[in-house]
Amino acid sequence: MARKTLRTKLCDLLEIEYPILLAGMGGAANAELAAAVSEAGGLGIIGGMNLSPDELDAEIVKCKKLTGKPFGVDTIAPTNMVDTATVDELRNYIPDEAVDFALKLAGELGIPVPEGTRLGKDGGTGWAAGMTPKQIEVVYDHKVPVFAAALGSPAFMAPEAHARGMKVIGLVGNTRQARKEAEGGVDVIVAQGHEAGGHTGYVATMPLVPMIVDAVSPTPVVAAGGIADGRGLVASLALGACGVWCGTAFLTTHEAGILQEAKDRILNATERDTRVTRVFTGKTCRLLTTQLIERWEKEGPILPFPLPIVLCTSLQDYLSEAGMVDNYFIPAGQISGALNEMKSAKQVVEDMVTEAVRLLEELPAATRA
Ligand SMILES: Cc1cc2nc3c(=O)[nH]c(=O)nc-3n(C[C@H](O)[C@H](O)[C@H](O)COP(=O)(O)O)c2cc1C
Repeated sequence: MARKTLRTKLCDLLEIEYPILLAGMGGAANAELAAAVSEAGGLGIIGGMNLSPDELDAEIVKCKKLTGKPFGVDTIAPTNMVDTATVDELRNYIPDEAVDFALKLAGELGIPVPEGTRLGKDGGTGWAAGMTPKQIEVVYDHKVPVFAAALGSPAFMAPEAHARGMKVIGLVGNTRQARKEAEGGVDVIVAQGHEAGGHTGYVATMPLVPMIVDAVSPTPVVAAGGIADGRGLVASLALGACGVWCGTAFLTTHEAGILQEAKDRILNATERDTRVTRVFTGKTCRLLTTQLIERWEKEGPILPFPLPIVLCTSLQDYLSEAGMVDNYFIPAGQISGALNEMKSAKQVVEDMVTEAVRLLEELPAATRA
């Protein structure tokens, strides 16, 4: 099949063939997935958020071996982390009553946590304050072409990144933050709607994208949240975006770095099987609904960001050991309901492009009918 052409100004800016970006997804967007998306003509982005600097270094090296095309790294840039927090210190902020509640709930749900275990002892490395600057140093050392960040503005690093020939992408959920980041020198604004998987705001993609396009013009805007096919891509272009940033759509690919059981749960989910909760991280985050999350919301303490992630990821380890996939914490968007087959990342990109090109050809005739 001849390669389709679908170019926007984003393609020129990021030196890519198609305006399709793999969302930065900590724990899911690994080097294999990022490289596969870049090889397919989009921009692969490694989800570096919960990687130590050494782990991130190894992931970037791997990605470079798999593709010679541009790719990016995503992490978080929050400003309200607990001040002193190394990971060990962070663990000490978790109140005993929260650990006791988690252990009680684990017992009631049959999660095999060994006697005497204090949950929260492992995990959550990337959530410690001071981690982001170390990750950014690794990104600089490797001259990674694109750096992206959510949960805070990456504008602080724009001058240095630009001096090194890099582009900076910021992920936002409202016009105020979008304006702040664009004025601060961020090159591309991702407008992420409420339907998205992972951390998410309150405004849906359909109203959010055109408002942000107007607010930050001429800064390029990329649409995110609920986009998994050519229809979503064309709709995003019609809303004024110059590309899409897709997360959930790539979770059900062979390359995605999550367990096959988690991929199967997304494939079997309907559009109503996700919920926005603070249980997992302390901030509003969309995940597949589970009994554990529902019970915790009703009965348990909601800790401030980022403490719950440390507690929940250690609980996740025991869920994983026991194969209790029904209660896994799986960030995923409402578009999960539309995904029903495993694909390669290349196929996801190709299907999106093929459908979008066909729609763009058919739309003029369809609107004259
Ligand atoms: C499993 C998962 C992990 C995520 N982790 C991150 C992350 O580490 N950093 C980030 O900027 N966004 C993260 N997100 C949000 C995505 O970057 C993206 O905005 C979102 O997936 C877009 O909506 P969609 O899932 O409907 O495509 C995550 C999303 C998912 C589904």
